[in-house]
Amino acid sequence: MKISVIGCGYLGAVHAASMASLGHEVIGIDVDAAKVEALSAGRAPFFEPDLPELLREGVASGLLKFSTDIADARDSRVHFIAVGTPQQKNGTGADLTYVDAAVDALLPYLNEGDLVVGKSTVPVGTAERLAVDVEAAGAELAWNPEFLREGYAVKDTIAPDRLVYGVRRDSEVPSHHTKDMDHRPAVKLLNEVYAQAIANGTPLVVTDYATAELVKAAANAFLATKISFINAMAEIAEVTGADVTELADAIGHDVRIGRKFLNAGAGFGGGCLPKDIRAFAARAEELGRGESVAFLKEVDAINLRRRDRVVELVVDALGGSAYKKKVAVLGLAFKPNSDDTRDSPALDVAVRLHGLGAQVLATDPEAIANSRLRHPQLSFGTTGEALADADAVVLVTEWNEYKQLDPVEVASLVNSAVIVDGRNCLDSKKWRAAGWTYIGLGRP
Ligand code: UDX
Repeated sequence: MKISVIGCGYLGAVHAASMASLGHEVIGIDVDAAKVEALSAGRAPFFEPDLPELLREGVASGLLKFSTDIADARDSRVHFIAVGTPQQKNGTGADLTYVDAAVDALLPYLNEGDLVVGKSTVPVGTAERLAVDVEAAGAELAWNPEFLREGYAVKDTIAPDRLVYGVRRDSEVPSHHTKDMDHRPAVKLLNEVYAQAIANGTPLVVTDYATAELVKAAANAFLATKISFINAMAEIAEVTGADVTELADAIGHDVRIGRKFLNAGAGFGGGCLPKDIRAFAARAEELGRGESVAFLKEVDAINLRRRDRVVELVVDALGGSAYKKKVAVLGLAFKPNSDDTRDSPALDVAVRLHGLGAQVLATDPEAIANSRLRHPQLSFGTTGEALADADAVVLVTEWNEYKQLDPVEVASLVNSAVIVDGRNCLDSKKWRAAGWTYIGLGRP
């Protein structure tokens, strides 16, 4: 299958490389010439396990090409829209400028029978609107939301948990039965694209545009709510002497609840969950149903309070003032196995401590370059440099190498053996036995 992928950011670059690895002929299009040059040379513009290998293999085989010229999409049969939908500069809704521009730019190159597939996360109602122009060009539109997690993006693309296709539910398809929709050309083409996943039994949900768009919003809202729920329990645990990690283990044994996404700590960040819950709340308000997801404002507020709490615990550990104290910040990425610092709780904590006059020395295995771009005022170094003579240590991204630190060895480097474990990922007994004052979140 000849495929184009419009937008080669996080989502698009991974999608393009993964599709080529499945044997499709792929052209990735992006307006950023530097990005296209790197990708064309088989270099990943960001850190993502397995992506560099796929890029190199795809480019070497000739199946994977990149271009800045959208006209190069003209030979493709299926066109994926994978551009960003960031938070609006002056609001909390999604900025659809890039999606609209990508579809507009593609329209002149569409051929009769082509399929345009939206992958970007968009407010419900977007696909219905875009379908008008796509259909006028003789093509069809489908919405195929993406659920990939950073750090596992290649695996999640090639072997997803589920596939969701939103297709036009028109007069030919009067009932809500997926069976009726399965024969639509869009479904057939997408089944060819995802033939391997489908052969492997990946669950497939064929539905309408609005449902497909909402599936993505709902999934991210649920995940964010789960994290904020446990962080709310951490707040209660903090005033009662309870231990939120033991509480999570206990409620997690109930299969209806499940233990995943119940790790209390500095909260969620990244390029998706925070902006997606805000965009969902904003869209619900536009639809006159703001109250239905008003809880998402609480979810957001609880999440942001956890960052305040980490800073407060560090200041307390320093005896009430961070001024001129040396603080080692372990972690800057919004989660491990990523160099992404978008809306990162870790970077936020570093910036706030710096703002309080602390001498912050922050470190991260992959995210220093991105952090420096965002906050050049901060100082960065190796783990050893960060820990040397520190008056307090704060762990804010649970990279394996931080989890594996030897508390005895680290104690010999620092000035004062006090650690705030902002991800509740260290063995508190082991650290205390090595003489540390260990402070977790929602733990006695
Ligand atoms: C998320 C969704 O998981 C994915 O399906 C969607 O497509 C995009 O958004 P991602 O942003 O890559 O993916 O990260 P994820 O692994 O979901 O973690 C999000 C944030 O939540 C991270 O900051 C992480 O540290 C935090 N988190 C996660 C917690 O604080 N506690 C948990 O128990 C789990």
